[in-house]
Amino acid sequence: MSHHVDPNKNVNLTIDGIPVTVPEGTKILSAAKKVNINIPVLCEHPELCKRALCRICVVECDGRGKLATACSNDVWEGVKIVTNNKRLSTIRRTIIELILANHPQDCLSCIRNKNCELQSLALSYGIYKNPFNNNVESQPPKIESKTIVREMSKCVKCSRCVEVCQEVQAIRAINTANRSSEYRITTPYEHSLEDSNCVFCGQCAKVCPVGAIYEHDQTAEVWEKLNNNGLRAIAQVSPDLAAALQSECAAEQTITTGKMISAIKLLGFDKVYDASIAAEAANSELNRELEQRQKTGGKLPLISGSSEGVARFVKNFYPDLAAHLSDGKTPRRVFAEDIKNAYSAAEKLEISSITTVSFVPDLSQKYTAKKDETDFALTAKELARMFKLAGIMVETLPEAPFDTVASDLPKAANSPPSAEIVDGYAKAREVMETIHSGKCASNRVIILS
Ligand code: SF4
Ligand code: SF4
Ligand code: FES
Repeated sequence: MSHHVDPNKNVNLTIDGIPVTVPEGTKILSAAKKVNINIPVLCEHPELCKRALCRICVVECDGRGKLATACSNDVWEGVKIVTNNKRLSTIRRTIIELILANHPQDCLSCIRNKNCELQSLALSYGIYKNPFNNNVESQPPKIESKTIVREMSKCVKCSRCVEVCQEVQAIRAINTANRSSEYRITTPYEHSLEDSNCVFCGQCAKVCPVGAIYEHDQTAEVWEKLNNNGLRAIAQVSPDLAAALQSECAAEQTITTGKMISAIKLLGFDKVYDASIAAEAANSELNRELEQRQKTGGKLPLISGSSEGVARFVKNFYPDLAAHLSDGKTPRRVFAEDIKNAYSAAEKLEISSITTVSFVPDLSQKYTAKKDETDFALTAKELARMFKLAGIMVETLPEAPFDTVASDLPKAANSPPSAEIVDGYAKAREVMETIHSGKCASNRVIILS
């Protein structure tokens, strides 16, 4: 049954006896939130469309015991909803136990231990022992391009990753295979992500509720460098890292950039630089390249990317436009190379004795196309783990300034190029289509972000 939804019309109902009024078209889940009732969910994600696959969120409607999934069903006038009683908690317990029966029992060694949606559901339903037999073996993790790790034996088949990769990013590097009990999440032709259209945006890892897709942790490798006395370690920090760190550390006080710099130094880094310097240097490179192409009749508009996944996107989906890609490096690589040269000259050190680590807020910045990369990109999550391991309470530290860059680093451009910044791969496709059709103004730089 479908009918026209009028969001200007209000609907009155009760949830666990509490009256609530919400606009027509509101889901039961959101109506319950309005009166501070949290219905448990697993497959649901606020930013993705509702497929109602797990059925954890079932509620009773209208006192007649009719069950409905709260994440996918709209409220209606006069309905009386019950979100919690013995019957519902038995149903939910059974669903969780059945998932656990098909899940490896190695929480202690899982990267999502204590931060897993399945684990917290089990805890809230008091499931400490599994009544079903469990013979699920963990499969070895598949590390994809040093960026993403997949452990499909831990997948709870919520489809969040499929939704985000197919519908939001429109990349389609993840899909589903088979039906009913054989239903599983896979990649086209079971290829590795490296051999697929994946652009390593990291969105699938961000939405996965369990430890089935996650970012590749390189903290052990970085600790090894930091603990090697013969090496120098230099950090570059993205401007928005402090904000990302705030939520990763669950800090009560504000983590300022200054406190974060002190904390990174405590980890053993010799220098901590502001990554926006590298962004300026990369901008000036782009300016030069634009002018050069204008003079020599090179392919325009010039396409550049804030991450190296952008080049994969263009080459995989628009190979005929690959000549529009900038030859330049991403700001992160510009930094890593320039700073090493400048620092080794200033301190009379071998280049090979300097390690650079870029701390980036987002997993998409971690991907690097270069196979022999010896420098690292760590996300806010990884940095938070390093602080935790070292027992550093970032918010309690004094403020420290960024180190200043040696004068022989390339100078930034006076003005950044007139660039159009395109956010997200769905929008990027629209822009690529206008370039295809020749309707895109040519004398400019397009930065896909
Ligand atoms: S990283 Fe992005 S493109 Fe690759 S599989 Fe995940 S969501 Fe899809
Ligand atoms: S890999 Fe994660 S996000 Fe994807 S279906 Fe499995 S549990 Fe859900
Ligand atoms: S959360 Fe509603 S069906 Fe999964």
